[in-house]
Amino acid sequence: MNRVGFVGAGRLARVHARHLRRLSDVSVATFDVSAEAADSMARESGGVACGSFEQLLDQSDAIAVVTPSNLHAEYAVAALKAGKHVFVEKPVTLSAAGAVPISEASAAKPELVCTVGQVLRWFPMYRRAHELVKAGEIGLPAALRMSRGGGLPGAGRGWFEDHSKSGGVFIDLGVHDFDFLLWTFGPVVEVVARSVGAKTGSGADYGLATLTLASGAVAHVESTWMDADDPGMAFEFCGSEGMLQWDSRSTGTVRGMGRVDGHFMPDDDPFFGQMKEFVTAIREGRPAAVGLRDAVAAVRVAEAALESARTGLRVTL
Ligand SMILES: NC(=O)c1ccc[n+]([C@@H]2O[C@H](COP(=O)([O-])OP(=O)(O)OC[C@H]3O[C@@H](n4cnc5c(N)ncnc54)[C@H](O)[C@@H]3O)[C@@H](O)[C@H]2O)c1
Repeated sequence: MNRVGFVGAGRLARVHARHLRRLSDVSVATFDVSAEAADSMARESGGVACGSFEQLLDQSDAIAVVTPSNLHAEYAVAALKAGKHVFVEKPVTLSAAGAVPISEASAAKPELVCTVGQVLRWFPMYRRAHELVKAGEIGLPAALRMSRGGGLPGAGRGWFEDHSKSGGVFIDLGVHDFDFLLWTFGPVVEVVARSVGAKTGSGADYGLATLTLASGAVAHVESTWMDADDPGMAFEFCGSEGMLQWDSRSTGTVRGMGRVDGHFMPDDDPFFGQMKEFVTAIREGRPAAVGLRDAVAAVRVAEAALESARTGLRVTL
Protein backbone atom coordinates (compact mmCIF):
# COMPACT_ATOMS: atom_id res chain seq x y z
CA MET A 1 0.00 0.00 0.00
CA ASN A 2 1.85 3.03 -1.21
CA ARG A 3 -0.44 5.72 -2.51
CA VAL A 4 -3.64 7.15 -1.10
CA GLY A 5 -5.72 9.03 -3.70
CA PHE A 6 -7.84 11.88 -2.38
CA VAL A 7 -11.13 12.83 -4.00
CA GLY A 8 -11.57 16.42 -2.91
CA ALA A 9 -8.66 18.74 -2.14
CA GLY A 10 -10.34 20.91 0.48
CA ARG A 11 -9.68 21.62 4.11
CA LEU A 12 -9.97 18.11 5.55
CA ALA A 13 -8.17 16.37 2.69
CA ARG A 14 -5.14 18.57 3.40
CA VAL A 15 -5.23 17.69 7.10
CA HIS A 16 -5.29 13.98 6.24
CA ALA A 17 -2.54 14.30 3.62
CA ARG A 18 -0.33 16.12 6.10
CA HIS A 19 -0.68 13.26 8.60
CA LEU A 20 -0.22 10.54 5.98
CA ARG A 21 3.17 12.02 5.13
CA ARG A 22 4.33 11.14 8.64
CA LEU A 23 3.88 7.44 7.82
CA SER A 24 6.64 5.63 5.97
CA ASP A 25 6.18 4.66 2.32
CA VAL A 26 2.90 6.48 1.78
CA SER A 27 2.41 9.08 -0.95
CA VAL A 28 -0.60 11.08 -2.00
CA ALA A 29 -2.51 11.78 -5.22
CA THR A 30 -5.44 14.17 -5.60
CA PHE A 31 -8.43 14.75 -7.83
CA ASP A 32 -10.80 17.68 -7.40
CA VAL A 33 -13.38 19.28 -9.71
CA SER A 34 -11.26 22.37 -9.16
CA ALA A 35 -7.97 21.65 -10.94
CA GLU A 36 -6.50 24.60 -9.08
CA ALA A 37 -7.39 23.02 -5.70
CA ALA A 38 -5.91 19.65 -6.79
CA ASP A 39 -2.71 21.35 -8.00
CA SER A 40 -2.22 23.36 -4.83
CA MET A 41 -2.86 20.32 -2.61
CA ALA A 42 -0.39 18.30 -4.69
CA ARG A 43 2.22 21.02 -4.19
CA GLU A 44 1.49 21.14 -0.45
CA SER A 45 1.57 17.38 0.05
CA GLY A 46 4.38 16.57 -2.36
CA GLY A 47 1.94 14.36 -4.26
CA VAL A 48 0.50 14.32 -7.77
CA ALA A 49 -2.63 16.02 -9.12
CA CYS A 50 -4.87 13.92 -11.38
CA GLY A 51 -7.11 15.32 -14.10
CA SER A 52 -9.91 12.81 -13.59
CA PHE A 53 -11.27 10.38 -11.02
CA GLU A 54 -10.37 7.49 -13.36
CA GLN A 55 -6.75 8.65 -13.42
CA LEU A 56 -6.80 8.91 -9.62
CA LEU A 57 -8.06 5.30 -9.41
CA ASP A 58 -5.31 4.18 -11.78
CA GLN A 59 -2.60 5.81 -9.67
CA SER A 60 -3.84 4.86 -6.18
CA ASP A 61 -3.97 1.77 -3.97
CA ALA A 62 -6.55 3.31 -1.64
CA ILE A 63 -9.03 6.15 -1.97
CA ALA A 64 -10.01 8.77 0.60
CA VAL A 65 -13.36 10.42 -0.17
CA VAL A 66 -13.24 13.94 1.27
CA THR A 67 -15.80 15.76 -0.87
CA PRO A 68 -19.01 17.52 0.16
CA SER A 69 -20.97 14.89 2.08
CA ASN A 70 -23.74 14.34 -0.50
CA LEU A 71 -21.09 12.96 -2.91
CA HIS A 72 -19.51 10.38 -0.59
CA ALA A 73 -21.54 7.37 -1.74
CA GLU A 74 -20.95 7.63 -5.49
CA TYR A 75 -17.17 7.94 -5.10
CA ALA A 76 -16.91 5.29 -2.37
CA VAL A 77 -18.90 2.76 -4.41
CA ALA A 78 -16.87 3.45 -7.57
CA ALA A 79 -13.60 3.07 -5.63
CA LEU A 80 -14.66 -0.23 -4.01
CA LYS A 81 -15.81 -1.58 -7.38
CA ALA A 82 -12.39 -0.66 -8.79
CA GLY A 83 -10.79 -2.77 -6.04
CA LYS A 84 -9.51 0.08 -3.85
CA HIS A 85 -9.50 0.31 -0.06
CA VAL A 86 -11.70 3.21 1.02
CA PHE A 87 -11.73 5.85 3.72
CA VAL A 88 -14.89 8.03 3.67
CA GLU A 89 -15.18 11.22 5.68
CA LYS A 90 -18.07 11.50 8.10
CA PRO A 91 -21.03 11.56 7.76
CA VAL A 92 -20.69 8.42 5.64
CA THR A 93 -23.88 9.50 3.83
CA LEU A 94 -26.73 11.91 4.59
CA SER A 95 -29.11 9.02 5.37
CA ALA A 96 -28.84 5.37 6.39
CA ALA A 97 -30.64 4.37 3.18
CA GLY A 98 -28.06 6.29 1.16
CA ALA A 99 -25.32 4.09 2.62
CA VAL A 100 -26.82 0.83 1.34
CA PRO A 101 -24.89 0.91 -2.00
CA ILE A 102 -21.60 1.34 -0.07
CA SER A 103 -22.48 -1.53 2.28
CA GLU A 104 -23.30 -3.75 -0.71
CA ALA A 105 -20.12 -2.83 -2.59
CA SER A 106 -18.07 -3.39 0.57
CA ALA A 107 -19.73 -6.74 1.31
CA ALA A 108 -18.89 -7.86 -2.25
CA LYS A 109 -15.17 -7.13 -1.60
CA PRO A 110 -14.55 -8.16 2.02
CA GLU A 111 -10.78 -8.13 1.42
CA LEU A 112 -10.89 -4.33 1.05
CA VAL A 113 -10.76 -2.02 4.06
CA CYS A 114 -13.74 0.32 4.10
CA THR A 115 -13.82 2.77 7.00
CA VAL A 116 -15.33 6.12 7.97
CA GLY A 117 -13.82 9.20 9.60
CA GLN A 118 -15.52 9.01 12.99
CA VAL A 119 -12.47 10.80 14.31
CA LEU A 120 -13.72 11.31 17.86
CA ARG A 121 -12.59 7.76 18.51
CA TRP A 122 -9.01 9.01 18.09
CA PHE A 123 -9.38 12.18 20.16
CA PRO A 124 -7.36 11.33 23.28
CA MET A 125 -9.88 13.00 25.61
CA TYR A 126 -12.78 11.01 24.21
CA ARG A 127 -10.74 7.83 23.93
CA ARG A 128 -9.67 8.03 27.56
CA ALA A 129 -13.23 8.79 28.65
CA HIS A 130 -14.43 5.78 26.65
CA GLU A 131 -11.89 3.51 28.35
CA LEU A 132 -12.79 4.76 31.82
CA VAL A 133 -16.52 4.36 31.23
CA LYS A 134 -16.02 0.85 29.81
CA ALA A 135 -13.87 -0.04 32.83
CA GLY A 136 -16.79 0.94 35.09
CA GLU A 137 -14.95 3.91 36.57
CA ILE A 138 -18.01 6.20 36.58
CA GLY A 139 -20.26 3.36 37.66
CA LEU A 140 -23.68 3.17 36.06
CA PRO A 141 -23.98 6.02 33.52
CA ALA A 142 -27.05 8.16 34.11
CA ALA A 143 -26.81 11.61 32.52
CA LEU A 144 -24.62 12.47 29.52
CA ARG A 145 -24.07 15.82 27.84
CA MET A 146 -22.17 16.46 24.63
CA SER A 147 -21.71 19.68 22.73
CA ARG A 148 -19.94 20.66 19.52
CA GLY A 149 -19.80 23.63 17.21
CA GLY A 150 -18.81 27.13 16.29
CA GLY A 151 -19.84 29.44 13.51
CA LEU A 152 -20.83 28.40 9.99
CA PRO A 153 -17.93 26.64 8.22
CA GLY A 154 -15.80 29.34 6.57
CA ALA A 155 -15.39 31.08 3.29
CA GLY A 156 -15.30 29.01 0.10
CA ARG A 157 -17.15 26.17 1.80
CA GLY A 158 -20.67 27.43 1.12
CA TRP A 159 -21.95 23.91 0.43
CA PHE A 160 -22.31 23.39 4.21
CA GLU A 161 -25.13 25.96 4.17
CA ASP A 162 -27.11 23.84 1.71
CA HIS A 163 -28.45 21.12 3.99
CA SER A 164 -29.20 18.88 1.00
CA LYS A 165 -25.39 18.66 0.69
CA SER A 166 -24.24 18.78 4.34
CA GLY A 167 -27.30 17.43 6.15
CA GLY A 168 -27.41 20.35 8.62
CA VAL A 169 -25.96 20.20 12.13
CA PHE A 170 -27.34 16.88 13.38
CA ILE A 171 -25.97 14.99 10.37
CA ASP A 172 -22.77 17.00 9.97
CA LEU A 173 -21.73 17.63 13.59
CA GLY A 174 -24.01 15.56 15.81
CA VAL A 175 -22.92 12.40 13.99
CA HIS A 176 -19.58 12.62 15.87
CA ASP A 177 -21.31 12.63 19.25
CA PHE A 178 -23.94 10.07 18.29
CA ASP A 179 -21.16 7.70 17.21
CA PHE A 180 -19.34 8.25 20.50
CA LEU A 181 -22.49 7.64 22.55
CA LEU A 182 -23.28 4.40 20.68
CA TRP A 183 -19.68 3.19 20.97
CA THR A 184 -19.37 4.02 24.66
CA PHE A 185 -22.82 3.75 26.18
CA GLY A 186 -24.72 1.40 23.84
CA PRO A 187 -27.88 1.60 21.74
CA VAL A 188 -30.25 4.56 21.56
CA VAL A 189 -33.96 3.77 21.72
CA GLU A 190 -35.67 7.15 21.48
CA VAL A 191 -34.91 10.65 20.24
CA VAL A 192 -36.63 14.00 20.83
CA ALA A 193 -35.04 16.96 19.08
CA ARG A 194 -35.51 20.48 17.81
CA SER A 195 -33.40 22.44 15.36
CA VAL A 196 -33.36 25.64 13.37
CA GLY A 197 -32.40 23.84 10.16
CA ALA A 198 -35.34 21.44 10.30
CA LYS A 199 -37.51 24.36 9.28
CA THR A 200 -35.16 26.28 7.00
CA GLY A 201 -33.10 23.55 5.25
CA SER A 202 -30.33 26.04 4.62
CA GLY A 203 -27.93 28.46 6.24
CA ALA A 204 -27.05 28.59 9.91
CA ASP A 205 -28.29 25.75 12.08
CA TYR A 206 -28.56 24.87 15.75
CA GLY A 207 -29.94 21.66 17.20
CA LEU A 208 -30.65 20.06 20.56
CA ALA A 209 -31.38 16.35 20.81
CA THR A 210 -32.32 14.32 23.88
CA LEU A 211 -31.68 10.61 23.53
CA THR A 212 -32.89 7.80 25.72
CA LEU A 213 -30.47 4.88 25.74
CA ALA A 214 -31.38 1.22 26.11
CA SER A 215 -29.46 1.29 29.41
CA GLY A 216 -31.90 3.91 30.73
CA ALA A 217 -29.34 6.73 30.62
CA VAL A 218 -30.33 10.02 29.02
CA ALA A 219 -28.04 11.99 26.71
CA HIS A 220 -28.31 15.58 25.62
CA VAL A 221 -26.48 16.57 22.42
CA GLU A 222 -25.98 20.15 21.28
CA SER A 223 -24.80 20.82 17.71
CA THR A 224 -24.32 24.36 16.46
CA TRP A 225 -23.19 26.56 13.60
CA MET A 226 -24.62 29.57 15.44
CA ASP A 227 -21.96 30.16 18.04
CA ALA A 228 -20.03 33.42 18.10
CA ASP A 229 -17.04 31.75 19.80
CA ASP A 230 -14.22 29.79 18.18
CA PRO A 231 -15.10 26.14 17.45
CA GLY A 232 -15.35 24.06 20.60
CA MET A 233 -16.44 20.69 21.93
CA ALA A 234 -17.33 19.42 25.37
CA PHE A 235 -18.64 16.45 27.29
CA GLU A 236 -19.89 15.61 30.76
CA PHE A 237 -20.63 12.00 31.66
CA CYS A 238 -22.18 11.35 35.08
CA GLY A 239 -22.68 7.97 36.68
CA SER A 240 -23.25 6.36 40.06
CA GLU A 241 -19.52 6.39 40.94
CA GLY A 242 -18.40 9.74 39.53
CA MET A 243 -18.18 11.92 36.49
CA LEU A 244 -15.91 12.95 33.64
CA GLN A 245 -15.86 16.43 32.23
CA TRP A 246 -13.99 18.19 29.43
CA ASP A 247 -14.50 21.46 27.62
CA SER A 248 -12.02 22.33 24.87
CA ARG A 249 -12.65 26.05 25.42
CA SER A 250 -11.81 26.14 29.09
CA THR A 251 -9.39 23.34 29.89
CA GLY A 252 -6.89 21.16 28.14
CA THR A 253 -7.34 18.41 30.69
CA VAL A 254 -10.12 15.95 31.37
CA ARG A 255 -11.42 16.46 34.92
CA GLY A 256 -12.50 13.48 36.91
CA MET A 257 -14.58 13.46 40.06
CA GLY A 258 -15.46 10.55 42.30
CA ARG A 259 -13.52 7.36 41.66
CA VAL A 260 -11.78 8.99 38.66
CA ASP A 261 -10.55 11.93 40.71
CA GLY A 262 -7.96 14.24 39.12
CA HIS A 263 -6.92 15.79 35.83
CA PHE A 264 -5.30 14.06 32.91
CA MET A 265 -4.15 15.19 29.50
CA PRO A 266 -3.66 12.64 26.75
CA ASP A 267 -1.92 14.16 23.75
CA ASP A 268 -2.00 12.04 20.57
CA ASP A 269 -3.21 13.81 17.43
CA PRO A 270 -6.59 12.31 16.48
CA PHE A 271 -6.25 12.88 12.74
CA PHE A 272 -2.85 11.18 12.70
CA GLY A 273 -4.27 8.26 14.69
CA GLN A 274 -7.13 7.91 12.26
CA MET A 275 -4.92 7.86 9.12
CA LYS A 276 -2.45 5.50 10.81
CA GLU A 277 -5.29 3.10 11.57
CA PHE A 278 -6.48 3.20 7.92
CA VAL A 279 -3.02 2.42 6.55
CA THR A 280 -2.22 -0.15 9.25
CA ALA A 281 -5.50 -2.02 8.68
CA ILE A 282 -4.67 -2.23 4.95
CA ARG A 283 -1.11 -3.40 5.63
CA GLU A 284 -2.24 -5.97 8.18
CA GLY A 285 -5.13 -7.19 6.01
CA ARG A 286 -7.75 -6.67 8.72
CA PRO A 287 -10.93 -4.57 9.05
CA ALA A 288 -10.40 -1.03 10.37
CA ALA A 289 -11.53 -0.12 13.89
CA VAL A 290 -14.51 1.88 12.65
CA GLY A 291 -16.76 -0.27 10.48
CA LEU A 292 -19.40 0.93 8.03
CA ARG A 293 -22.05 -0.46 10.32
CA ASP A 294 -20.92 1.86 13.15
CA ALA A 295 -20.97 4.90 10.88
CA VAL A 296 -24.42 4.06 9.50
CA ALA A 297 -25.79 3.56 13.04
CA ALA A 298 -24.60 7.07 13.95
CA VAL A 299 -26.27 8.51 10.84
CA ARG A 300 -29.48 6.69 11.79
CA VAL A 301 -29.55 8.50 15.16
CA ALA A 302 -28.82 11.83 13.42
CA GLU A 303 -31.69 11.19 10.99
CA ALA A 304 -34.01 10.40 13.89
CA ALA A 305 -33.06 13.74 15.47
CA LEU A 306 -33.79 15.56 12.22
CA GLU A 307 -37.10 13.72 11.82
CA SER A 308 -38.11 14.62 15.38
CA ALA A 309 -37.15 18.25 14.79
CA ARG A 310 -39.18 18.33 11.56
CA THR A 311 -42.29 16.63 12.95
CA GLY A 312 -42.18 17.72 16.58
CA LEU A 313 -42.65 14.06 17.59
CA ARG A 314 -40.59 11.49 19.51
CA VAL A 315 -38.83 9.05 17.19
CA THR A 316 -38.31 5.46 18.28
CA LEU A 317 -35.33 3.53 16.94
N1 LIG B 1 -13.89 14.89 10.75
C1 LIG B 1 -14.02 16.19 10.87
O1 LIG B 1 -13.78 16.75 11.93
C2 LIG B 1 -14.48 16.98 9.68
C3 LIG B 1 -14.34 18.39 9.71
C4 LIG B 1 -14.73 19.09 8.58
C5 LIG B 1 -15.25 18.43 7.46
N2 LIG B 1 -15.40 17.07 7.49
C6 LIG B 1 -15.98 16.36 6.34
O2 LIG B 1 -15.02 16.33 5.28
C7 LIG B 1 -15.67 16.43 4.02
C8 LIG B 1 -15.06 17.59 3.25
O3 LIG B 1 -15.18 18.78 4.03
P1 LIG B 1 -14.15 19.99 3.84
O4 LIG B 1 -14.31 20.82 5.04
O5 LIG B 1 -12.82 19.48 3.46
O6 LIG B 1 -14.83 20.73 2.60
P2 LIG B 1 -14.12 21.68 1.52
O7 LIG B 1 -15.22 22.47 0.92
O8 LIG B 1 -12.97 22.39 2.15
O9 LIG B 1 -13.53 20.66 0.46
C9 LIG B 1 -14.34 19.92 -0.43
C10 LIG B 1 -13.58 19.77 -1.74
O10 LIG B 1 -14.35 18.91 -2.59
C11 LIG B 1 -14.27 19.40 -3.91
N3 LIG B 1 -15.38 18.89 -4.70
C12 LIG B 1 -16.64 19.37 -4.80
N4 LIG B 1 -17.36 18.61 -5.65
C13 LIG B 1 -16.54 17.63 -6.09
C14 LIG B 1 -16.71 16.54 -7.00
N5 LIG B 1 -17.88 16.30 -7.62
N6 LIG B 1 -15.65 15.74 -7.22
C15 LIG B 1 -14.44 15.97 -6.64
N7 LIG B 1 -14.23 16.99 -5.77
C16 LIG B 1 -15.26 17.81 -5.51
C17 LIG B 1 -14.30 20.91 -3.74
O11 LIG B 1 -13.79 21.58 -4.90
C18 LIG B 1 -13.43 21.10 -2.50
O12 LIG B 1 -12.07 21.31 -2.84
C19 LIG B 1 -17.17 16.60 4.33
O13 LIG B 1 -17.80 15.36 4.24
C20 LIG B 1 -17.18 17.09 5.76
O14 LIG B 1 -18.35 16.73 6.47
C21 LIG B 1 -15.00 16.35 8.57
